[in-house]
Amino acid sequence: MTGPALFTFDDLADVRRFYRDADTSATPMVELPALARSVGAGRLLVKDESMRFGLPAFKIVGVRYAVSRVLSSSPQPVTALAAATAGNHGRAVARVARDCGLRAHIYVPAGTHPARVEALRGEGADVRVTSVGYDDTVRLLAGDAQADGWTIVSDTAWPGYEDVPRWIMAGYTHILDEVRGQGGFAGDPQRMLVMVQAGVGSLAGAVAGWLDATFGTSRPRLVVVEPEGSACLGASVHAGIRTTLPEAAPTSMVGLRCAEVSTIAWPILHTTLDHAVTVTDAEVDAAIARLARPLPGDSAVRSGPSGAAGVAALLAQCGLPPLAGRTVLVINTEGPLVG
Ligand SMILES: Cc1ncc(COP(=O)(O)O)c(C=O)c1O
Repeated sequence: MTGPALFTFDDLADVRRFYRDADTSATPMVELPALARSVGAGRLLVKDESMRFGLPAFKIVGVRYAVSRVLSSSPQPVTALAAATAGNHGRAVARVARDCGLRAHIYVPAGTHPARVEALRGEGADVRVTSVGYDDTVRLLAGDAQADGWTIVSDTAWPGYEDVPRWIMAGYTHILDEVRGQGGFAGDPQRMLVMVQAGVGSLAGAVAGWLDATFGTSRPRLVVVEPEGSACLGASVHAGIRTTLPEAAPTSMVGLRCAEVSTIAWPILHTTLDHAVTVTDAEVDAAIARLARPLPGDSAVRSGPSGAAGVAALLAQCGLPPLAGRTVLVINTEGPLVG
């Protein structure tokens, strides 16, 4: 290990136990040999999270575990879960709340696509479309949650709010446990490249923590992919310190549009990340199309913009280490968007 550990072995064992008892089925891991050849890689494995526990994104695998920890550790009875997001995380919170018989209050910023609001309402959530932007929506929710006793379930951490996001990150490691069970880490780990897209970096931090705990210094190389206009992790790596961008530019990769890295993801990423690269919306469109209409011999994979970022970076070959002879693992974190 080269820096502070994010997870203890007990943390990871608890997640394994939780998902073994939950008796869920694994998402597919798809090998794309023709695309691997075309980008010059030895093998290309796509962990396909486009349908995870019945939702079109990976987020629920973290939220489900985190909510179980909230319910078992909260000193007061939990009556309602709350989140400020129109994206995949909000839908996961709404679904898990419903499954647990709790109310969900999801606040979404002005301008959110009506299809996303409908998807949230379809999960039975109370949805409030605010008249303000994302940051003010977060503040509004925090005030109302405090007043009404709702439990906030956020996938990013800030000073003083770290337990829930840490549990969410721990839950994400189930994806890698599945990959291992599916033979994805069968070869020499040091000949592997793991590519993860990042918004606030919770998923990438979870992957980093799992790789670190599992392989130590013989771990695979870790590459993080961000949109060109909101590369807060890349900026932080460059500066050597967690750096907030003045703004996160609009992008079709809405789940990756973030100006600030989560406080608990940063330390592990700072010590574990090997490369940070960026992709454009056009590159992601090309990746979605390639995955949907694959090269002869490959299977089709349905992907949304944030989901296809890893493949976009491979196709664009932007700043990546040499791929020859390496097994590359990418995570398709979402299916096609509803709006
Ligand atoms: C589909 C998708 N992929 C990746 C991410 C990035 O996750 P994180 O914000 O933990 O970096 C998100 C976050 O919303 C997402 O929705």
